Amino acid sequence: MRVLVSGGAGYIGSHTVIRLIDAGHDVVIVDDFSNSKPTVIGRLEGITGVHLPVHSFDLTDVDKTEHLFAHESIDAVIHFAGFKAVGESVSKPLDYYQNNLDSTFSLMRAMDRHDVRTLVFSSSATVYGAEPQLPMTEDLPTSATNPYGWTKVMIEQILTDIAASDDRWRIAALRYFNPVGAHASGEIGEDPSGIPNNLMPFVAQVAVGRREKLSVFGDDYDTPDGTGVRDYIHVDDLAAGHVAALDRIAKDSSPISIWNLGTGQGVSVLEVIKAFEKASGKPVPYEIAPRRVGDIAASYADPSRANSELNWYATKTIDDMCEDTWRWQSGNPNGYPDA
Ligand code: UFG
Repeated sequence: MRVLVSGGAGYIGSHTVIRLIDAGHDVVIVDDFSNSKPTVIGRLEGITGVHLPVHSFDLTDVDKTEHLFAHESIDAVIHFAGFKAVGESVSKPLDYYQNNLDSTFSLMRAMDRHDVRTLVFSSSATVYGAEPQLPMTEDLPTSATNPYGWTKVMIEQILTDIAASDDRWRIAALRYFNPVGAHASGEIGEDPSGIPNNLMPFVAQVAVGRREKLSVFGDDYDTPDGTGVRDYIHVDDLAAGHVAALDRIAKDSSPISIWNLGTGQGVSVLEVIKAFEKASGKPVPYEIAPRRVGDIAASYADPSRANSELNWYATKTIDDMCEDTWRWQSGNPNGYPDA
């Protein structure tokens, strides 16, 4: 298939581009580079040996989106593009709702007009809300605790309604747990702008000496060591899950499917620190800080639906995730260069 990857220069998008090309697909990227660097494209071309057509614009621009579909031949879309910082979404709700919803509307309209009705959407385990039952299964009720999370809940609902209106649609919503790690080459990885919000990039920046110490947000949760427990999934396993989902929906008869992508294993903050120290050989100093508002004690997937329906399994351990993150971080201590 010729696959349009929105947000293809971003962290998960870029790893998925590599997996798509490995699987024999052609890729077209659309990205406005608002939260990614153009230099990632050259690295992707170096790894894959393939020239990647890139369209640089914001998908909320309806005319440019229409123009893209009018001039490129596209069979399917993987839609990663969107704002994704939980804390920022609380202070800028209008930006989040407008950007994440308008870009999806613009994309879906253009897809429909051009008879492209195969879509894989980047959703999140955040749709299981504030007090999820564990392990999380796809049929649990959805809700959210912040505007970012609500955009994921809302877009899933919109996609469900679109799928119900026209059975030619083939849509997958993939609920990611906590993506971490980097490509095995060390050339591609997570490059957050500013202070990292997420645990793994923060730990990596402490280990490489960019930050003094980590704040562990709470050690009094009802978890084995008191720190938050998450289902960390290697970004390359996650990327493989997109290819599996795309292949499945292209043959499938149901207009919409939802799959969790996680390992099913919970790992605590202190366990991540320990694994990272082992992988890097560097100390990761930390202090215990108050809980972060909106955090839950534990989150981990029941990935059995994706295992059985997609024949997809997360293969990499937390040690693999830390080793690959370290290769990327130590080789690129300041992330991607500007040019
Ligand atoms: N943590 C720290 N210190 C930090 C950062 C995080 O102790 O500096 C802790 C958190 O409290 C949590 C764990 O590390 O216990 C993981 O936190 P992350 O911020 O890495 O990930 P979250 O689980 O909070 O959020 C992630 C994604 C969201 C998504 C959510 C639910 O970033 O986009 O999972 O799926 F919504």
